[in-house]
Amino acid sequence: MTQASNKDRVWIFDTTLRDGEQSPGATMTHDEKLEIASLLDEMGVDIIEAGFPIASEGDFKAVSEIAQNSKNSMICGLARANFADIDRCWEAVRHAAQPRIHTFIGTSPLHRAIPNLTQDEMAEKIHETVSHARNLCDNVQWSPMDATRTEWDYLARVVEIAIKAGASTINIPDTVGYTAPIESADLIRRLIAEVPGADEVIFATHCHNDLGMATANSLAAVAGGARQIECTINGLGERAGNTALEEVVMAMKVRGDIMPYYTEIDTTKVMNISRRVATVSGFAVQFNKAIVGKNAFAHESGIHQDGMLKNPENFEIMRPEDVGLAGSSLPLGKHSGRAALRDKLGQLGMEVGDNQLKDIFVRFKELADRKKEVYDDDIVALVRAGEDPENDRLQIVSMKVVCGTGGPAEATIEMDVDGKEVIATEQGDGPVDASFKAIRKIHPNTARLQLYQVNAVTEGTDAQATVSVRLEEDGVIATGQSANTDTVVASAKAYVHALNRLLIRREKSGPGVDAREISYKDVT
Ligand code: KIV
Ligand code: ZN
Repeated sequence: MTQASNKDRVWIFDTTLRDGEQSPGATMTHDEKLEIASLLDEMGVDIIEAGFPIASEGDFKAVSEIAQNSKNSMICGLARANFADIDRCWEAVRHAAQPRIHTFIGTSPLHRAIPNLTQDEMAEKIHETVSHARNLCDNVQWSPMDATRTEWDYLARVVEIAIKAGASTINIPDTVGYTAPIESADLIRRLIAEVPGADEVIFATHCHNDLGMATANSLAAVAGGARQIECTINGLGERAGNTALEEVVMAMKVRGDIMPYYTEIDTTKVMNISRRVATVSGFAVQFNKAIVGKNAFAHESGIHQDGMLKNPENFEIMRPEDVGLAGSSLPLGKHSGRAALRDKLGQLGMEVGDNQLKDIFVRFKELADRKKEVYDDDIVALVRAGEDPENDRLQIVSMKVVCGTGGPAEATIEMDVDGKEVIATEQGDGPVDASFKAIRKIHPNTARLQLYQVNAVTEGTDAQATVSVRLEEDGVIATGQSANTDTVVASAKAYVHALNRLLIRREKSGPGVDAREISYKDVT
């Protein structure tokens, strides 16, 4: 199919490897460029701008290899408006099954001042260079750089010259991200309506994102008649970047009702290539980036999670599978509700009754208040740590621990013992030792500590610690566990959990010392 043969088809021109790679710090190695080009080819990108062949030996080699390897995409190289650039570009792309030369020159008053050319001198140069490119390659794209700040009359004049010289694609760059949607649509519409020969060529739009309008401006240009969008994966590119490929493609797919255009992009490949480009360029994708951000299909608030569980369409306008994700994510956090927690427990294979869910939910909320995201392992730890809570005769009500820098640590612990509140303060060799001593003062016992183990359940400094404590008393062994973002609190609770289990085992195994008979009067 030729570019002009279908009026609703929008051609996707990807310039991740040229404009994207040009952004400071985003340089890719030769192999990385080849890998990205092959992913773009596989995902159905129509034209890959593979580099700027005269810029360096490395750029030349990358463009030529990509040209030779490409299976489906047209391969394009960039060239300034001079014969040396154009010849070098042709040398690099000529072995592609479908080669294209893209040549450009800055046409706005500011950009004309750089080579210090008059309007007429520049017009002549455009005629000469486009004709030269056209003699080498029958597929030539021409761009008046900074078109959106070029005087209308002059822009119309040079576009006509480029068309007459043989360019089959006219790209209208918004080089500095200055235009706005209405203007972007009008400019293309007017060029098509007023420039002689304009109906014989394809108009392209190339927007930068300096005002955050690159996607909107590109789609507006399509509404005005452009049929090629120039874009990059993740919106990579100079300064604030270029139009993001994933955004324009998904916008046309999701809102076909008001944008009746289509592309040949296999959108299920979007996520994978986005991740690869982020990795090789070193430019991480912001969490709330449209389509490919980590949070783009994540729902945290209780109302949203509940709505999502009932029907994903309540809060999703596209299916995560359409961009290559396995599904939406309902990360649990402080805004999550009971329905999401029950759902998560189900996914983790933990069926719980209503009462247990109530208890887990209370502790989950406490945890979520202290921690940004609650991971699956945190939930497992919460459930395990909370087994049999209602049978606990010993419960920590509050604790205050002061770590000693030059001296011992001190712990003051308040406990509920069979419904009675008791407080004790003890010093120890570190906060855990001091806490255990205070607990022993409240509940004297001869249990020997057989094991004390701390694990970080999840990553980050706000990770939950799970602590296991194993006690042995008169041949009876009991293990207690607790999870908390505070390791000392988790330790004290695990110790108390183990003591409770010892008590239960003793009660079950007949007469002996009953903790209920212990007097707490003397304890302060
Ligand atoms: O932004 C721009 O004007 C460009 C041209 C080279 C097309 O990248
Ligand atoms: Zn650009």
